Amino acid sequence: MTADTVQVELGPRSYDIVIGAGTLSRLGDHLRATTGSDRVAVVTDETVHALHGASIASALSDFRTHVIVRPEGEAQKSMEGLDAVLDSLFRAGFDRSDTILAFGGGVIGDLTGFAASVFKRGATFVQVPTTLLAQVDSSVGGKTAINNAYGKNLVGAFHQPRLVLIDTDLLQTLPERQVKAGYAEIVKYGLIDRPEFFMALDDELGADVLALEPAALREAISVSCTAKAAVVAQDERESGTRALLNLGHTFAHALELQAGYDGGLLHGEAVSAGMDMAFEFSHRLGLCPAQEASRIHRHLSRLGMPTRADMGLFLSDPAALIDHMRQDKKNEGGRLTLILARGIGQSFIDRSVSEPDLLDYLKDIAAPMDIRS
Ligand SMILES: NC(=O)c1ccc[n+]([C@@H]2O[C@H](COP(=O)([O-])OP(=O)(O)OC[C@H]3O[C@@H](n4cnc5c(N)ncnc54)[C@H](O)[C@@H]3O)[C@@H](O)[C@H]2O)c1
Repeated sequence: MTADTVQVELGPRSYDIVIGAGTLSRLGDHLRATTGSDRVAVVTDETVHALHGASIASALSDFRTHVIVRPEGEAQKSMEGLDAVLDSLFRAGFDRSDTILAFGGGVIGDLTGFAASVFKRGATFVQVPTTLLAQVDSSVGGKTAINNAYGKNLVGAFHQPRLVLIDTDLLQTLPERQVKAGYAEIVKYGLIDRPEFFMALDDELGADVLALEPAALREAISVSCTAKAAVVAQDERESGTRALLNLGHTFAHALELQAGYDGGLLHGEAVSAGMDMAFEFSHRLGLCPAQEASRIHRHLSRLGMPTRADMGLFLSDPAALIDHMRQDKKNEGGRLTLILARGIGQSFIDRSVSEPDLLDYLKDIAAPMDIRS
């Protein structure tokens, strides 16, 4: 079994991300080496439990385990979901030296990580992500959160895992739509500051990743985790450069709010269209050459990824989109902040985006014609 290891360098909170096909079978060894505890609570959702529960049980056969199975879906990232996990941990008599392990996608990761951060003021946390999005993004970096009536991810904490173990074999059961949603975050790392990675994706690697080819997955996930680890090491608490990871996300969040979080538009789908829009808008501002913005659009379309041309009705109310963008956590002093680009791999944080320019752009794309034609 070939596995890559990427380190997240955070001084005493540093940890390894182990990436490869079949790594789950070595989970026990990795846990013994990193946490030292012999008791593990596995928090998972019903789908992942049904598909992969037996594999993790066998990987943890030498440990005392307690499995907490939650329904799937974003609604679990709530006070009720949190209470259910904490209650189960208390009932089972867990303490801080035991390990709390998230086995699922970003929903389970965020919920379990937040539960671990508040359980007895902070318990040992391990991530075994099972969606592509969680493997390249949400399991790395220590952001944990639940949602409330005021918005998504507004109640949370930074709580770094002790270990992230990524088994690419787990992705073989993931629905294609979820694979594509995760792929958007992979493309993002190329577009932020790794142009050669984007070129490789555009060449063959991207299609191989979407076909779940093991070597391609290991390579793309390793590069993505290396890119995320580098940003997190520089700016763990998002006071500066970590905002770059939000390329495409301000547009995406506005689209998701318009779509209404009912499964009609997945986060990664909105990010894919949002990156297309960030580059198109950058081109309109004279920042990014037309051929680079078009190349990204063509790459996404060719691989069947959503672009802004697929956003239809979600784009029909430009004023509402701007309103949503005003709520973005990155904004400072009432000024809109966007991640824009001077080209592929040349993204930057623009803290002085002109609202009239942005509104003009959104009005133009809300019209049925395609301004690129
Ligand atoms: N903390 C962070 O830094 C961060 C970053 C990005 C996103 N997020 C959060 O991540 C969440 C989205 O995560 P997600 O896209 O992984 O969604 P998810 O956790 O809802 O998983 C998507 C679906 O795939 C199913 N699934 C998971 N693994 C599977 C497998 N191996 N085979 C078959 N089905 C499987 C799940 O049951 C679910 O139905 C959002 O809540 C978002 O806010 C957090």
